[in-house]
Amino acid sequence: MLIYETLIRDHERIKKAIDTLLLLADDATDDRIEALHRIRDSLIPHERSEEAVFYNSLKAVRPDHPLLGQSFDEHRDIEALLHSLLQTDPFDSDWRRRALALKREFAAHREQEETELFDLAKSCLTEEEALYLGRAFEKMRPRVLKTGLSSTTFRAVAEQMPPRFADSLEERNVHRI
Ligand SMILES: [Fe+2]
Ligand SMILES: [Fe+2]
Repeated sequence: MLIYETLIRDHERIKKAIDTLLLLADDATDDRIEALHRIRDSLIPHERSEEAVFYNSLKAVRPDHPLLGQSFDEHRDIEALLHSLLQTDPFDSDWRRRALALKREFAAHREQEETELFDLAKSCLTEEEALYLGRAFEKMRPRVLKTGLSSTTFRAVAEQMPPRFADSLEERNVHRI
């Protein structure tokens, strides 16, 4: 699968997890904690893998493109919102306002990724490279959850990268939270 289709599928999964959270009643505190953990476990590996595999490859060919810096920043903002939700007292009624903000920010980020960023990527990557990146993303995402950003994760994913981007997959380029 091309990286574009892979990312869209993953975005849809994250969107559904956020929608599930918002459907919960205010007093369903245990379910809310579980839903938040499910969002965290799909969102964080998505963002780390997207940065390592996709953003860093684009950065290798378009190092100064403003959309890339902006996309990294948006990941940081979305994760800050998720962390504030994870730290909110389960009995605090403010959780819904924060969850709606997370939904809004994620939707806006996703929209920009699937339009402007994909257009930029399609102008820089061959179809074969987009296929390689899709496989590298699929390989990395579950590993982030299991073993974190370890060097074994990076080594395993490097084998799946298109040759000209193998060196772009560097641990130090992926921001941490
Ligand atoms: Fe993203
Ligand atoms: Fe994404």
